[in-house]
This record gives sequence, structure tokens and C-alpha cells, in this order.
Amino acid sequence: MHSTRARVPAAPAPALGVATERIEGRDKVTGTARYAGEHARTPPDCAYAWPVPATVARGRVTAVDTAGALALPGTLAVLTPGTAPRLGESDDPTLAVLQDDAVPHRGWYVALAVAETLEDARAAAQAVRVTYATEPHDVTLTEDHPDAYRPEQAGGRPALRERGDAGGAFTAAPVRVDVTYRVPPLHNHPMEPHAAFARWDGEGDGAHLTVYDSSQGADPVRTALAALFRLPEDRITVVSEHVGGGFGSKGTPRPHVVLAAMAARHTGRPVKLALPRGHLAAVVGHRAPTIQRVRLGAEHDGTLTSLSHEVTTHTSRVKEFVEQAGLPARVMYASPHSLTDHHVVPLDVPTPSWMRAPGEAPGMYALESAMDELAGALGMDPIELRVRNEPATEPDSGLPFSSRGLLACLREGAHRFGWADRDPRPAARREGRWLTGTGVAAATYPVLVSPSTAAATARHDGGYDITVNATDIGTGARTVLAQIAADALGVAVGSVSIGIGSTRLPRAPLAGGSSGTASWGWAVHRACTRLAERLARHTGPLPAEGVTAVADTAEEAGRTPPFARHAFGAHFAEVQVDTGTGEVRVRRLLGVYAAGRILNPRTARSQFIGGMVMGLGMALTEHSTADPAFGGFAERDLASYHVPSNADVPDVDAHWIDEDDPHLNPMGSKGIGEIGIVGTPAAIGNAVHHATGVRFRELPLTPDRVLPALA
Ligand code: MOS
Repeated sequence: MHSTRARVPAAPAPALGVATERIEGRDKVTGTARYAGEHARTPPDCAYAWPVPATVARGRVTAVDTAGALALPGTLAVLTPGTAPRLGESDDPTLAVLQDDAVPHRGWYVALAVAETLEDARAAAQAVRVTYATEPHDVTLTEDHPDAYRPEQAGGRPALRERGDAGGAFTAAPVRVDVTYRVPPLHNHPMEPHAAFARWDGEGDGAHLTVYDSSQGADPVRTALAALFRLPEDRITVVSEHVGGGFGSKGTPRPHVVLAAMAARHTGRPVKLALPRGHLAAVVGHRAPTIQRVRLGAEHDGTLTSLSHEVTTHTSRVKEFVEQAGLPARVMYASPHSLTDHHVVPLDVPTPSWMRAPGEAPGMYALESAMDELAGALGMDPIELRVRNEPATEPDSGLPFSSRGLLACLREGAHRFGWADRDPRPAARREGRWLTGTGVAAATYPVLVSPSTAAATARHDGGYDITVNATDIGTGARTVLAQIAADALGVAVGSVSIGIGSTRLPRAPLAGGSSGTASWGWAVHRACTRLAERLARHTGPLPAEGVTAVADTAEEAGRTPPFARHAFGAHFAEVQVDTGTGEVRVRRLLGVYAAGRILNPRTARSQFIGGMVMGLGMALTEHSTADPAFGGFAERDLASYHVPSNADVPDVDAHWIDEDDPHLNPMGSKGIGEIGIVGTPAAIGNAVHHATGVRFRELPLTPDRVLPALA
């Protein structure tokens, strides 16, 4: 028998704020961590599925000839729009795969081959002959596109907001900047492509669907599958135990999981479906391109009198998704007159979706570049310009900020970066063929939180089991949840076991919107606080089944507090531009963040730096091309879609300001997963301007774009 005495140590070592190693780090680096497509218990009768993407950009399927595919050895079935199981209604029309003959974009799935082996499935898919009736397509976004309309919402907020008379105040302003920035389509490329394994057990009313999916949220996947396969949720289990990155592309259920479940039902076999990377560009979302006009009017002392940010973007014909790039302008700077607006053009393109900091990343690229242009027009230091326009309350809502550390980040960053020594003149630092420049940009990301449930059990053997259906997509979620639990229980982190990544565990929201730690952590904190209270009242040994407390944060986390809650940051970059080749090399990147209390400095730093590297890619190398001739995206592998490699990534450093914000959650944390990308592209672009004297307004800053402008 273990006594309960050890459960409440007199002076527990602090758990929060400690640089704790990832709990599953060893499993990952030794290969024992299993991802969806490599589940250890793959049964011997497992079949493999390979989808067939449409090769036309618009039209319909008139015939699918499966004879050649079915004649190949190993082929079990070929599902087509005519033969695939009929699905129930879901909220997401991108999941209605093989339900009709329409082809809304190139790469839309039009058939699915199922075979004994992966190789057999791929060969069968390649042998399927699809005939189409094609229609003319349009995949090109333009500012004055005749089909552009103003949606009701952008990112869940009103698409249009206006205060005062932004146009009139702009015209009357003594100093004006009126500029248009362009960001191309961008793609998430997680190391682990989307994959699912599906198995049906039992028949009829006893049937149970089990799915291993590479997803940012097993509960939302289960909800979608329940609607599509017309099953109560308790007859579906979804497991997302380890996930090799997502960045938003796994934030909603994707077609592969539906196809895997369909194929398993159709063949009566367990089915594995791992998407080849070449398919991802068309079926797991992308950051929609944006054309962003920013108009800033100011007094000679830099005081903004008018701020307009107007965004044009595209969506697909399947589903409306609006890249909410105008939203950060509602948060950042004081101005008596303001306009933020969105228009969207439906095109024959794949459906856009979430990519790390949707809205903020492209929107702050435009706004923070325009602020740099205004500083230039005023002859004012760009940090001073931001100080001059610091708002007392959130400009759009008038709400007080729960905390706002922007100026502290700018000051701390300026100090660490050596900003005071900067010669503001552009194109003034030349060494041989290299021009050197530095730039700064602000960053912001909202504090989001969703209700969650969790359970905490004090085991008979002295350990603690914490369960919550959280997902660790590489962020360190398991680890920080163990720290939160240990802190609330007053025990060592090592005595806490964390169970996440399965719908068998207490229901929880997805890993998205930089909200995971706040949402799951709140429920874990609450369950552990309750458990600690129960243990304090408990005398004698614990029962064999231990003592359990559960929590549901629906009431507190679902509440909208009377505060504007955002994380802020400041990004600094030093670049060198090769005047012979047009190549931009980043030499130094610094991010300083104000994101509440940092719960694990080790994994937080990794999140910040990861976001900054992704921002470096957005600034310099990453772009997707909507192919006007054939539709779809031209870049479908990592040889043509250039994410930064080690040689591109220089000295990257992240720091933070400690914030004590009582209006967040019991841990006092703000989200940190996305803000690192937000200010990085503008900081790099502003540094390129400082280096060269040339203002580029379209990303990425590739040599073919930079070199001609230097001549
Ligand atoms: Mo992130 S784009 O909220 O997964």
C-alpha cells in the first residue's frame, strides 16, 4: 500500500515556466512513435487505397473506365462517382467525395483504387481511364475581377468595418501612402503527409468505425464522419496519437479520411490511405492569394488620421473561405478614421483554408510594410512611428486591452538588435557586391480559447493519469499539459502520465488558432485542482481504482470577456542582397514577444523560431502558382515549392517579455504557435528596402524579381 503522504509535498518543485524536455521526444527520435500511416498494429489483411485526381480544371466526369484497373493483379475495387457509397450531409462540401460527376477544380478526386498492396493500388489508380466534358476555367485572381463580391464574414468577423470617413480623411492628410501589396498562394507542407487507416468492426447497428488519422483534432474528425456515415458518434473512434505537423492543413477533416472509411466499408477490409505529396496542393487547402491596398494618411508628426486596408482574395466554387487579412488593422494602430474590407472571387481553384496565422500573416505583411513606407515618407524612425500611434483601447471595438506589450517588445528588440546604431538611409551599406539593410515590423495574434473537458486520476501506485483529447502536432502539447497538471497538483512532472490523441478520451477542441494550451490546459488545470481538493480531504490509502476528478470549461472558456485580448511581438531582420544575382540572404532574425506567461521556455522558443522560419520562407522562397493553362497548382513537390532549408536559415533568436495578465486563463498564457510567422515577412521586406532602396510589394523576393529592379 502506498501512503497518500507523498502526493502533497511540502515544497513541490515548480513545473510551469520550466524548460521541460518533450515527453515523447525519445519515442520520436527512436522511431517508436507511430503516426497514422504506420500504426503498429496494421493487420495482415490491410488493403491500400490510392485516389485518382481530376486532370481537368472544370467540367464533369462523363465516364470512368475501370476495366483496365480491375484486370490488374491485386486490385480489389475501384470506387467512382457512380459506385461509391452515398454519404450523409456534412458542413464541409470538400468532404463530399465521389458523390457526383462535377469537377470543380483540377486535382478533385474522381475515383479511388483499392488493392492488396500500396504498389498495386497506385498501379490500379494509374490504369483508371476518366473521360470528361470540360468547360472553360478561370484560376486567375485580379483586383477588378467581375465576380468579386463582399462576403458577410472574414474569419468569423464582419468583412467590412468603417469608422468615420476614411476616404475623406485620407484625401485631407498632409502625408499619404497609397500602396498595393501582393501575396501569392502558399501551401502548408507538413513533414507527414495526410494519412488515414480505417477499419469497420461488426455489422448493422453494431458496426464500429475505427480510424487513425493524421489530424489536428480527432473530435472534429469524428463529428464529420458521424454525419457522413450516418452513425452516432459513440460508434466511431478516431485516434491522432502523433502528428507530423499540420499548420492548419489538418485543422479540418480532409478527403483522405473519408475515402479510407468508404473503401474499408466497401471492401470489408481495413484500409490504409496515405496521400502522396503531389496530391496535397489540391486537397488539403492553401493560403489564398491576396491583393491588399493599404492607404495611410498622417500628420507631419506621424499621427495617423486615416487607415484603410482593403483585401481581395479568391475562394473555390466548392466552399467560401475568406483569408481575413484585413483583421489585424482593426487591432494595431490608433486612427480616428478607418476602413477594413474584404472581397472574394470564386475561381476554379482548390478550396483555400488555414495556413499558420490565416489573415494575420499576409495582412501584417502589407500593413507593416506600408507603415515602413510611411516612416520613410515622414523621415521618421519606424519604431517611433509605431510608438506615436499606440492606441489606448482596441481601435475597432473600443475595448480595453487585457494587456498589450507591443511597445515593450519593440524597445526590448531594438536594444537586443542594436537598432540605435542604424543609419536610416537606404542603400548606404555596400561591401563589394553585397548591400546590407535592417528592418523592423510588429506582430499580433488574437487570444483564442474554446471549451474543453479533461479528467485527472490519482492512481493507487502514487502516479497521476491526465486524459484529454488534445493533439500534439509537434508543438509539445503533451509536455506543457503535464506541466500544467503537475503545477495544479503540486507534484513532480515525472509522476504525471498524459493521455491525448483519441476520441476515447474526454472531448476537446482541435489544435488550432494558437488555442490548444489555453483550451486543454484550462480543463486539465481545473480537473487537477479538483482532484487535489479531493485528495486533501482523503484519508488512508487510495482505492484500487484511484480517485478521479473531471472538468468541463464550457462556462468559463465559452464566455467573452470585456477585454481585447491579443499577443504582440516585434520582428527585426538583417539581410544582405547580392547585387550580382539578386539573391537575398537573411543574416539575423530576432523576435521579441509579449504572450502572457511562457509555460515552457524550451518548447515555446521552438514554436516562435519555427514560425519565424516559416515567415522567412514566405518572404523569400515560397509560392504556389495557379496554373492558368491547366488549372491546379504548378508546385506539387518540395523541389518546386521551396521551404527554407538549413542553409537559408541564419542566426534566429526569440525572446519574450513577461506579462502578468489576469484576464486569460488560470495559467496566464496567450497562444504562441502562430505569432512567429506574422511580422517576419515585413521585417525582411523592410530590410531589403533598407539595403537596396527599392520597395518590392509582391512576395516572394526571389532573385528573378529582385535583380532586374537593382539594375
Ligand atoms: Mo492553425 S492555421 O490555427 O492550425
